[in-house]
Amino acid sequence: MARPYLLVVNGPNLNRLGVRQPQVYGTETLASVVARVREVASAEGVDVLDFQSNHEGALIDFLQQHGPSSVGVVLNPGALGHYGWALRDCVADLGRPVVEVHISNVHRREPFRHQLVLAPVVAGQVVGMGTTGYVWAARHLLELWKREGGGEGE
Ligand code: DQA
Repeated sequence: MARPYLLVVNGPNLNRLGVRQPQVYGTETLASVVARVREVASAEGVDVLDFQSNHEGALIDFLQQHGPSSVGVVLNPGALGHYGWALRDCVADLGRPVVEVHISNVHRREPFRHQLVLAPVVAGQVVGMGTTGYVWAARHLLELWKREGGGEGE
């Protein structure tokens, strides 16, 4: 049987993590964040498949293809979290739990960042906990999966 996998999906501008507005998003790169999630997942026998795109359609294509068979999805939608209705429809249709991550505390920032359109269709949100938020999100998804009986009988 193929090894179970967790998705780590990042939206627009998150390829710039580490150099983009470090006072807001810190200095850790996306590759380093994914490596940290991979370490946590592999301890549970779970692989990580990661994807970043600046295009909403590409994110949807990836999620449609890999989401339904995944353990779950750690998703930082970037600014699409504030207005990405097509991404929201995709998440609602996935059939697997998604935890939305925002590195910064969007509620303390500009008003346009206060609306989070994925909120009603995600399992939970991790907001304002820096890049470690990805690790918390992954831990939660792994926990949900284990409660479902994932990883048993291998
Ligand atoms: C972000 C917050 C968004 O408002 C912003 O557009 C981003 C990053 C975060 O991780 O804090 O690109 O999702």
